[in-house]
Amino acid sequence: MTAGANEAADPTAGSDTGQLILGIETSCDETAVGVVEDGVNLRSSVVASQVDLHARFGGVVPEIASRAHLELVNPVIAQALVEAGLELSDLHAVAACSGPGLAGSLLVGVSAAKAVALCQGIPYVGVNHLEGHLYAAFLEEPDLEPPLCFLLVSGGHTMIVAMEGHGRYRVLGQTIDDAAGEAFDKVARHIGLGYPGGPEVDRLAALGDPDAIKFPRPMLDEGFDFSFSGLKTAVATYVKHSPDAEVTDVAAAFQEAVVDVCITKLLRGAAEVGAKTVVIGGGVAANSRLRTRLLDAAEADGRRAFLPSPSLCTDNGAMIAAAAWWRLRADGPTPLSGGAHPGLRLPTID
Ligand code: KG4
Ligand code: ZN
Repeated sequence: MTAGANEAADPTAGSDTGQLILGIETSCDETAVGVVEDGVNLRSSVVASQVDLHARFGGVVPEIASRAHLELVNPVIAQALVEAGLELSDLHAVAACSGPGLAGSLLVGVSAAKAVALCQGIPYVGVNHLEGHLYAAFLEEPDLEPPLCFLLVSGGHTMIVAMEGHGRYRVLGQTIDDAAGEAFDKVARHIGLGYPGGPEVDRLAALGDPDAIKFPRPMLDEGFDFSFSGLKTAVATYVKHSPDAEVTDVAAAFQEAVVDVCITKLLRGAAEVGAKTVVIGGGVAANSRLRTRLLDAAEADGRRAFLPSPSLCTDNGAMIAAAAWWRLRADGPTPLSGGAHPGLRLPTID
C-alpha cells in the first residue's frame, strides 16, 4: 500500500466542524467501534465483548481473540453506523487502535480501518490505546483544561500521566511489575472467582469489610511508581493459610489496598504538576470503590476529580475516535504503510 492517496485526503484542510470519525478498538478481547463528531460529541459506541469465549480458559487466548475480532469487526462497524444514523460515506476519517495490544488482534482493527479509508478515500489514523483511554474523558467533559493529572489503570498498564497540553504527556510513574487490572484478575482467581476478575471482586467487595484484613500498600510512601505483585502474593498466602476467611472480606481488603495506593499516587502527581483536576481512565477506573473514595479524597485535597462513565473507562471504540481527532489535527493522517505495534508506548515530551 502507498501512503499517497491517504495523505491527500485531510479533512482538517476544509471545514473545522462536523468532522465524523469512526474509531475501531481490537487490541484485546473487546471488538469495539464508536463514532465521534469533532473529537467530543459521542454519536455511537458499540462493544462486542468476547468474555464468554475466553472465560473457560481463565484469561484471553490470543488466537481465539483475533479470530473473533475477524468475525465481529464488520457487524460491529455496521451497528455503530446504524446507531449514529450514518453511512460509511458520511465519515471524514477512520481510526484504529494500532497498539499496544495483541499483535493478531490489533491487525484486524488496523486492516479494517485501512480498508474503509481506501474504499471511501478518507484519512486513516493509527491511535495509541493509552492515549485513547486519556481522551475518553473529553467525550463527557470537553472543557477539561490541561494541566491534568491522570490515573490510567487497565489490564496491561498502571500509570500516573501528566497532560500538559493536548498530545503533550509526561509519565510520572508506572507499575514495576503487575498492572492493577492484572492484580484484580489474579486475586480473583485465588479466591475462586471467574474471568475477568475485576468486576467480580468489585461486586463481592461491596459486601465485605475493607478493614477485616490489613494487606500491604506497596510503595505507598515513595514517588509515583506502583508494585502489585507482592500484594497479590500476600492475598494468595493469606487465603492459603486462612481457608475459612470470608471471600467478601478478602476482596474488600485487597481492593482497599489497591485503591489507597492509586489515590495517594494520583493526588501526589497532581500536586507535583499543579493540576487542579484529576481524571481516571482504563478498565479499573470502573471500580466503584475507587470512584467513591477518589471523589472524597480529591475534595479533601482541594481538587476536582472527573470520573468518566464506567462504559467509557473500559475499552471502547469512541475513545479511539476521540483521540484520533486530536492526532489528525496535530500530525495529519497516518500513512497506510503504518502497521500494528504490540509494544507501543505513550508518546511523551520527556
Ligand atoms: O482498559 P481495559 O478494558 O482493557 C485493557 O486495556 O487492559 O481494562 C481491563 C481490566 C481487567 O483487568 C478488568 O478486570 C479490569 O479492567 N476491570 C475492573 C473493573 N472493571 C474492569 N477492575 C476492578 N473493578 C472493576 N469494576
Ligand atoms: Zn484498555
